Amino acid sequence: MEVAETIQSIRSLIKVARDSGKNIGLVPTMGALHIGHISLIEAARKKCDYVVVSIFVNPTQFVPGEDFDKYPRPFEADLDICQKAGVDAVFAPAPEQMYPAENITWVNVEKLTEPLCGQFRPGHFRGVTTVCTKLFNIVAPDIAFFGQKDAQQAIVIRRMVADLNMPLEIVICPTVREQNGLAVSSRNKYLTEQQKKDAANIYKSLQKCHQMIDAGVKNTSEIIAEMSKILQQIPSIEIEYINIVDAETLRNIDHIVGRVLTAVAVRIGPARLIDNILVDAAE
Ligand code: PAF
Repeated sequence: MEVAETIQSIRSLIKVARDSGKNIGLVPTMGALHIGHISLIEAARKKCDYVVVSIFVNPTQFVPGEDFDKYPRPFEADLDICQKAGVDAVFAPAPEQMYPAENITWVNVEKLTEPLCGQFRPGHFRGVTTVCTKLFNIVAPDIAFFGQKDAQQAIVIRRMVADLNMPLEIVICPTVREQNGLAVSSRNKYLTEQQKKDAANIYKSLQKCHQMIDAGVKNTSEIIAEMSKILQQIPSIEIEYINIVDAETLRNIDHIVGRVLTAVAVRIGPARLIDNILVDAAE
C-alpha cells in the first residue's frame, strides 16, 4: 500500500494505475476509521481495480465551536486498517496541500442543503461539497463511495455530481450498526459505555417509525410524536431534530407517500449523532 501526502504524488500513483487499465475507486474519509469505513472499502474493492482512501479532516466543513480540534486523528491505526482491508493507496494531505491559500472558491448545492443538518450546521455542506470536488479533481475516480448514515451528505453529493456533469458514479452503501443498533460513527468515540447504551434509542425510535409506516400510519406528526417519546425517556439525549422528508427533495411531508427519509439528530454528552432510515411506503 502506498501513502501519498501530496497531490502530485497521488496523481502519479493514479496515472500508473490508469495507464495499466485499472479503474479507480475513491473512499473519502476524515480518518478515525471504523467498520463502517471498512464496508465502504470492501464495496470499492468489489467494483474497482485500484482503491484509494483519502484521510483528511476537512476544516471547512466544521462550523465554529464544533469539534475540529479534538476530532480523533489515529493516523497509524488508520493506515493499519487500510492495509488490512486491501487499499492500494492512501491520500493523506496536510491542510496546506488542500487549502494552500485563502479559499475563495466554493461549491454550493442549494435547497437540499437547507433542511435537516443544514439548519443546525450553516456552511457545513458547502465545506463537504467543496472538499469532495477537490478530491474528485485530484483523484479522478470512476466511482466514489459514501455511507447512507450521512444520508443528506450522500444526496447532496449525488446532486452535485449530476448538476456539474462530474464524470464519476456515486455509490451509497448501507449504514453499519453496532449490535444494539447504534449507527457506527467516528464520533461514537466521544461516548461513555452508558451513553452508547442510551444512544441505541435513536435506532429504536427509527424502528418505531418503520413499524408505524408498515402498519399504515400516514400522519407524520403522529409518527414523530411517538419517536420523540422514545428519545425523551432518556435524560442524556437532547433532540436536535426528528424530520420525515421526501427522500429526493428532502422537503418535510405531512403525509407518508412514496419513498421517505426519516432523519434524527441528537446530542448526547459531547457528541452530536445522526441516523436515518429510508422507507418505501409504496411497497
Ligand atoms: O463523511 C465524511 O467523512 C466527510 O464529510 C467527507 C465526505 C470525507 C468529506 O470531508
